[in-house]
Amino acid sequence: SAAEKGGYEHFMFKEIMEQPRAIADTVNPRIKDGRIVLDDISLTADYIRDINKIYIVACGSAYHVGVVGKYVIESMVRIPVEVIVASEFRYCNPLVDDKTLVILISQSGETADTIAAMREAKRLGARTFAIVNAVGSCIAREADDVLYTWAGPEIAVATTKAYSTQLTAIYLMSIYMAQELDMLTPELLAKYIKALEKLPDNISKLLENKGEIQYIASKYFNSKSVFFLGRTLDYAVALEGSLKLKEISYIHSEAYAAGELKHGTIALIEEGTVVVALCTVKNLFDKMLSNIKEVKARGAVVIAVAEEGHTEIEKEADYVIYLPKCDELVMPSEVVVPLQLFSYYVSSLKGLDIDKPRNLAKSVTVE
Ligand code: G6P
Repeated sequence: SAAEKGGYEHFMFKEIMEQPRAIADTVNPRIKDGRIVLDDISLTADYIRDINKIYIVACGSAYHVGVVGKYVIESMVRIPVEVIVASEFRYCNPLVDDKTLVILISQSGETADTIAAMREAKRLGARTFAIVNAVGSCIAREADDVLYTWAGPEIAVATTKAYSTQLTAIYLMSIYMAQELDMLTPELLAKYIKALEKLPDNISKLLENKGEIQYIASKYFNSKSVFFLGRTLDYAVALEGSLKLKEISYIHSEAYAAGELKHGTIALIEEGTVVVALCTVKNLFDKMLSNIKEVKARGAVVIAVAEEGHTEIEKEADYVIYLPKCDELVMPSEVVVPLQLFSYYVSSLKGLDIDKPRNLAKSVTVE
């Protein structure tokens, strides 16, 4: 009913709008006196110091959170991280021993492949750490540690608020590990915590500009194919933006690490092809500008996403979506929001069943 949907037409829209609240609920209880406090977590400094390798194992959008997680954990904690989809993990002879930490990410906590991967990791002697939304679910019960996301029930098949809270759980965990290892100066710790605390307001601001995204969607909802480009953290979010669009609009899309474009994909760019260029990683901004020029020269329509103030981009891109300034570490949380809205509006303009796309299930409990 409309009441269940909070007065909105679809659960997906309601859940997009709930993100500031969901992120605040996931973050705020874990910050106490200027430190990250993860209650009931047995990961001690001694254990963290001993970790030789981290695997992040998940499916679908949760896997895309893992791709962000690799960048964030490796840059902050300097431990090697491998991200792998759960259905591959068991069959690839993973290099796991009792010094390996396996992080499982799952909204439902019931995805069959992720459960199987968790059990295999345990059998090989790893310590397992779950980031889960559904309280008391299988993965939450069986993992050695669990860090809950407080997104609340998610009904739409295409995940939005669960993905966003999983991102914040990854930031919390990375900052926590760095804090426990004394790798952060007090100033840096304070800066990261402030960045986390500011996210809900920044995302609320972004959501107020949804009309702009709706307008862009209204011009391109008939596209045959859309490309999402980005580098490092932006590339990780490109993967999620592309999946979201495929899932609910049935438009073919691809996410590409922008520098890899010239090794093949650029052959597919023609007059009118829509390219979404994510340009929020500061030291790679100029590289992204060159990539935008390359696709523009082949006729692409470019929708760029950049941080406020980076107005040079208006010379190259056809549309620019600006994001509130924030610490680069947490920028993926802002970048994903216009991409969710874009998919939502495209699907809506095509008159599709947004909350229940064809062939997809909310939780995949078979292998
Ligand atoms: C399904 C859903 C996706 C989700 C994936 C993993 O494919 O449609 O939205 O990302 O499963 O689900 P989980 O519950 O493990 O996060």
